[in-house]
Amino acid sequence: MRSSSRSPKRARVGVVGLGMGRAHLRGYQSTLNCDIVAVCDLDRTRLESAEQEFGVPYTFEKYEEMFAMKELDAVSIALPNYLHAPATIAAAKAGKHVLCEKPMAMTVDQAQAMIAAAEEAGVKLMMHFNFRFTPQARMMKHYVDSGELGDIYYVKTGWLRRRGVPGMGSWFTQKAMAGGGPLIDLGVHRLDLALWLLGHPKPKMVLGSTYTEFGDKMAKAAKKAYDVEDLACGLIKLENGATVFLEASWAGNSERAEEMYTQLFGSKGGAEQRNIGEGYEFGLKVFKERGGAFEDILPRHFPTGENPQQHFVRCIQENKPVMAPGQHGLHVQQILNALYRSAETGEAVAIEE
Ligand SMILES: NC(=O)c1ccc[n+]([C@@H]2O[C@H](COP(=O)([O-])OP(=O)(O)OC[C@H]3O[C@@H](n4cnc5c(N)ncnc54)[C@H](O)[C@@H]3O)[C@@H](O)[C@H]2O)c1
Repeated sequence: MRSSSRSPKRARVGVVGLGMGRAHLRGYQSTLNCDIVAVCDLDRTRLESAEQEFGVPYTFEKYEEMFAMKELDAVSIALPNYLHAPATIAAAKAGKHVLCEKPMAMTVDQAQAMIAAAEEAGVKLMMHFNFRFTPQARMMKHYVDSGELGDIYYVKTGWLRRRGVPGMGSWFTQKAMAGGGPLIDLGVHRLDLALWLLGHPKPKMVLGSTYTEFGDKMAKAAKKAYDVEDLACGLIKLENGATVFLEASWAGNSERAEEMYTQLFGSKGGAEQRNIGEGYEFGLKVFKERGGAFEDILPRHFPTGENPQQHFVRCIQENKPVMAPGQHGLHVQQILNALYRSAETGEAVAIEE
């Protein structure tokens, strides 16, 4: 292999967990100066299919064995939620940079331990908050950061499915392995996006509710395990005075099969992104007032940018900070866990640093 003084050292990456992990493989496949050298999964069919499709030289069933590989610089962790912390900590201890799926962990303590392990090992820890990377999210961030919307004081956001429980009876619907239902699965993305758009003010207090009206009955009929919520909502007060309203459902009597939205209310303007149809494509609108008249702006032809894997690899190669560090994952985790606690106790919950 030829290398020049100008081209960065090729990054050697691996992926653990080959459900969502396949999206990571596609991301790395599109990354310059990057080789996918290893994949890991307990499921041999998934392992062989990834090995063949992506031409991966090394396959593993145990992630500890994969992390022991010398010829590996960085890993994606796309395992069930309860394995994010142990796998991330093991990878960091083995000196690998980590791109970890959402939610960061099951508990705040775990999230803190992941950050500490990465710091101690001197490796990067990035959260796979991929909804920040959509062109519409980037454009929204551009509107906020350019001051066009003034101070953002209220964000209303959600991800609502009419009927859409993932993996009924699998780890997804069991609290001990998932940590919760749609709040930790879907709400996590909308919450992260809201905090990112707001510039990551610290969370101060939350009030949350969770409900289980459908999932348990659907699971019972199918003789499957289900002990998480199917709808959650909450109010999050931030240290800078802004408020976020968040809602998430896997099942609920709403109009659309799947709806994702983020509304920003600012002192000089507002903005709204919402998915078009039932898919993952978004439309963006900006609301201003000019000369006494209301003005609705419809930005189009968005510039595209890096995907999460391209960003992660470039930050490793250029030794730059990642845009979704573990600390952001921790703030999201603090809020999610506090919302669940609030739903249990019926009281508002203060968030301590
Ligand atoms: N960012 C996103 O948009 C997005 C989308 C879907 C899922 N996710 C996240 O990705 C993670 C995985 O979700 P999924 O939908 O791929 O789940 P999944 O159950 O389809 O895949 C998990 C894989 O991990 C493997 N696995 C389990 N334990 C293992 C172990 N100890 N060692 C090696 N392999 C093991 C399983 O065999 C399975 O193939 C979750 O944290 C989920 O929240 C993120």
